[in-house]
Amino acid sequence: MAREFAELTLRDQTVQLPVVVGTEGEVGIDISSLRRDSGAITLDYGFMNTGSCASSITFLDGEQGILRHRGYPIEELAEKLTFIEVAYLLVNGSIPNADEFEEWSSLLNRHSMIHEDMRRFFYYYPEHAHPMAILSAMVVSLSTFYPELSQHRPDEPEEHIDKAATRLISKLRTIAAFSYKKSVGQPFVYPRHDLRYCANFLNMMFSSPIHDYEIRPEIVKALNTLLILHADHEQNCSTATVRLVGSARVNLYAAVASGICALWGPLHGGANQMVIEMLEEIQRGGGNVRTAIERAKSKQNEFRLYGFGHRVYKSYDPRAKIIKRACDDVLKVLNTTDPLLDIAMELEAAALQDPYFVDRQLYPNVDFYSGIIYRAIGIPKEMFTVLFALGRLPGWIAQWKEAREDPKAKIQRPRQVYVGPTLRHLDASVKGGDVVSVEDSGGRVPN
Ligand code: CMC
Repeated sequence: MAREFAELTLRDQTVQLPVVVGTEGEVGIDISSLRRDSGAITLDYGFMNTGSCASSITFLDGEQGILRHRGYPIEELAEKLTFIEVAYLLVNGSIPNADEFEEWSSLLNRHSMIHEDMRRFFYYYPEHAHPMAILSAMVVSLSTFYPELSQHRPDEPEEHIDKAATRLISKLRTIAAFSYKKSVGQPFVYPRHDLRYCANFLNMMFSSPIHDYEIRPEIVKALNTLLILHADHEQNCSTATVRLVGSARVNLYAAVASGICALWGPLHGGANQMVIEMLEEIQRGGGNVRTAIERAKSKQNEFRLYGFGHRVYKSYDPRAKIIKRACDDVLKVLNTTDPLLDIAMELEAAALQDPYFVDRQLYPNVDFYSGIIYRAIGIPKEMFTVLFALGRLPGWIAQWKEAREDPKAKIQRPRQVYVGPTLRHLDASVKGGDVVSVEDSGGRVPN
């Protein structure tokens, strides 16, 4: 097929730019030679319209509300598979057969403990340390305990990478549960080899020396669904961070720790905690959703309707649809109600009729209803974003691996348009600070 080009005319010069077409018909204009050929760069605040890679992991069509991993629709994955199978699919490219699944499962069990020295780290965090800070610090610390992957080598044996990936998926769950136990001052509960991934996590979270947690299949199923729905989302802020940091060839642990920090932000994964805090505030104020809507619309403050809006979805987020249904199921199974769910549904209905939200195509996203399920399961709101990180981890790993194996990948280094002062010189009278020794300054260290 003949190569396709786009033409760009700047001042009196026309340059040809190759066109790249994806398997779903998406069109990208490759501008990598633009500066060389025309002297200009492209400028795109927030990367609203800039692709940074070609990827075969996740396909997303924000206009149609489509999300697929390795070609499989998210609806089918959430209904039929466990989180660990989806993690395998993302990281390895195919759904595991029975043998592969058993092997993967037993590897996850084998790597589920954390080094006893690492366990001690938890004791020195302040009482109310946010678990996301602990999570990120612990993940980067793994590179000091498992140094075979702490230096990036282009010829790193594949089995080292696979081992680090498996280790991380298994240990992040243990670290997450330990950070919760630390926050409530309870003894840590160790992982069990007779339990699968989600059941094991719930047991580590909620068992204690005086209480055996009852593992209910419906709750395990709900947690599996939630983690699957968060597993990957192409080049979102935290994944782009993992790829960018990884492009400097840091090890997997360091790249993922950076992703965890990016995810923490309230505009990204931290929104799930913000949603519940917003709903609680509405409840405290008597349950009037209009005040929140008017505040979110006002440009006089920073407040937003958390759990609403998305950079790429301009229709209902397909993940939010599944979560909304799961919410009803979990509350029914637990035979409970949550007044915050009623407020959330009222808020959604009001926003979806308001011209401000309609005109801007703002719909509920994955974070709007997830917190209601976490609350019903007994997970405190400070842990919500940690759960998001647990879910997103296979996506980060798959994307880090893909970037590492891509022959076209380079260190990521955006350019800028400089708008500061033009060349100027120091005045001849400017001398600069005196160099004073510590004794001369009377023992004080000069600034
Ligand atoms: N509440 C009120 N106004 C909003 C909201 C919202 N939640 N989201 C977007 N807008 C407005 C925004 O003020 C802007 O208005 P105007 O055109 O008058 O300036 C317009 O809609 C476009 O928004 P934007 O901020 O330019 O869009 P973006 O693509 O840069 O931001 C977003 C996407 C998700 C950061 C944003 O929608 C937002 O802040 N939402 C609330 C936080 C949230 O729920 N984040 C979780 C996202 S899903 C999980 C994940 O993958 O991270």
